[in-house]
Amino acid sequence: MARKLFTPWTVKDVTIKNRIVMAPMCMYSSHEKDGKLQPFHMAHYISRAIGQVGLIIVEATAVNPQGRITDQDLGIWSDDHIEGFAKLTEQVKAQGSKIGIQLAHAGRKAELDGEIYAPSAIPFDEQSKTPAEMTIEQIKETIQEFKQAAARAKKAGFDIIELHAAHGYLMHEFLSPLSNHRTDEYGGSHENRYRFLGETIEAVKEVWDGPLFVRVSASDYTDKGLDIADHIGFAKWMKEQGVDLIDCSSGALVQADINVFPGYQVSFAEKIREQAEIATGAVGLITTGTMAEEILQNNRADLIFVARELLRDPHFARSAAKQLNTEIPSPVQYDRAW
Ligand SMILES: Cc1cc2nc3c(=O)[nH]c(=O)nc-3n(C[C@H](O)[C@H](O)[C@H](O)COP(=O)(O)O)c2cc1C
Repeated sequence: MARKLFTPWTVKDVTIKNRIVMAPMCMYSSHEKDGKLQPFHMAHYISRAIGQVGLIIVEATAVNPQGRITDQDLGIWSDDHIEGFAKLTEQVKAQGSKIGIQLAHAGRKAELDGEIYAPSAIPFDEQSKTPAEMTIEQIKETIQEFKQAAARAKKAGFDIIELHAAHGYLMHEFLSPLSNHRTDEYGGSHENRYRFLGETIEAVKEVWDGPLFVRVSASDYTDKGLDIADHIGFAKWMKEQGVDLIDCSSGALVQADINVFPGYQVSFAEKIREQAEIATGAVGLITTGTMAEEILQNNRADLIFVARELLRDPHFARSAAKQLNTEIPSPVQYDRAW
């Protein structure tokens, strides 16, 4: 019987050949500090496509220079960035994998010279800079920058766009009452804290009709912070707006004690899937084919996002197939070797 991990999944007109997703991971390797891909990025992502990953999501890529976490992050804030990404998407697709990009703004977690921006002037921690509270004009500009970034991602040939609304970066900062103390229409109620993400989704949809994923932190693990019930509500709104999948991570808005164990975030993916009736991705210490298969067969998620295990083992798909006694094809270039 075909194992579910190795069955395709179709979203809009994109069919992903299996359920394994390379989760976005910053490589801090844009050494020219211009946001452009380096040869390392090409090798890093293409090797996972050769390794038969179904979908690769390129690391957090900044929609404007002050939206980078560090000055070595990737960026997509100008048309000059399109060419490098187009080369990457072509090569990844040539291996039969699909490729997405995570569009991001670091907000108050930017570790950069100059002013940094956030919904409210509250630093991440004692060591961090105090961000400037964004004006309404800056909020509107940033939403337009997400839209322009999405248009560039389309030109570069990406199959999927993921918005980064997790891990304490700008979109998450708007969502959470811990980091958003605004008294205008972008703060206060759930509806108001959701407004930045909601308007960004609408703006992106003006230029992008492909699959749209959103990564969330489903719990702030802190009193008065966001919890899974809040996120089930947000997920329902995202579904109404046409978002295709919620990628369910957690934490990193504020320092918190997190009980980390194998599959520790899977229950978030399961609850959002069940209660908001939207597709979800599970992520976090999922390291074997058996674990992935359990999650999928028990309908706890639709896709399995793997991060560190794919750094350790670029051929994780093959290792997982072996554990599940399943044959998967090799890249055509390797056919003669068998
Ligand atoms: C080196 C590294 C960089 C990361 N960068 C990002 C990122 O750019 N965007 C993001 O949403 N998560 C990022 N993450 C989080 C991963 O996508 C993933 O959610 C986390 O590592 C848990 O999955 P794992 O246990 O399979 O590693 C990063 C993780 C690592 C280890």
